[in-house]
Amino acid sequence: MIQDARERLIFALDVDSLDEAGRWVRLLRDQVGIFKVGKQLFTRCGPDVVRMIREQGGEVFLDLKFHDIPNTVACAAVEAGRLGVRMFNVHALGGAAMMEQAAAAVKEQAAGGSAKALLLGVTILTSSSDMTLREVGIERPVSEMVPLLASLACRSGLDGVVASPLEVGLIRQLCGPDFAIVTPGVRPDFAARNDQCRTMTPAGAIAAGADYLVVGRPISQAPDPLEAAERIVAEMAAALEGR
Ligand code: C5P
Repeated sequence: MIQDARERLIFALDVDSLDEAGRWVRLLRDQVGIFKVGKQLFTRCGPDVVRMIREQGGEVFLDLKFHDIPNTVACAAVEAGRLGVRMFNVHALGGAAMMEQAAAAVKEQAAGGSAKALLLGVTILTSSSDMTLREVGIERPVSEMVPLLASLACRSGLDGVVASPLEVGLIRQLCGPDFAIVTPGVRPDFAARNDQCRTMTPAGAIAAGADYLVVGRPISQAPDPLEAAERIVAEMAAALEGR
């Protein structure tokens, strides 16, 4: 169960250099299965950072949130697959055709023998409010848009979504047991909440049905980051046993 928990823990590599990313990967790779590379680190270091993580034995969540015309997103999806990332994401607001083409491209690539990356959708960013949506002409509230977009992602062939821990239960109900749910906004009892408002503990998120947890500052800002990662893994393992 401990190994299963490690493979479900994603550390957010919110740093701006290959050296620093490398230090975190070497420190945490025995506790953390997957490392999240976002726009800052990828724009700075490019595919080298993905290769470095894989060479160190880690898996990669490429968090670039693609959103473009269907053909462009499908081509980008193929490149993510070529890099050997374990998972990457697109904005569900890009629509069904965009998600379907990306899903088809990933599937076709995997049919050629490479390991299939998990294709995830982002519903509504947690930084967006009902007002943010109204500003861009969307009258429905966030609470309706999140399940709407998660269902659309599921019907369009995506493998899962990134969602707040508080949305996990509803998404699981709508999209079924095989739909992967990745949740940031995780805060162990021993860590500060920082700027995250709608949080859950690792045990709470796993018990609610999350498959993977994204954790950044509760590990990176802990006095002993490796020990913090170990505590989170232990908490996740205990919750996995109980579900
Ligand atoms: O440090 P912390 O644990 O808050 O980091 C969470 C990570 O997950 C960050 O990389 C953040 O950008 C990302 N994220 C998030 N909320 C979302 C989507 C992504 O916190 N809704």
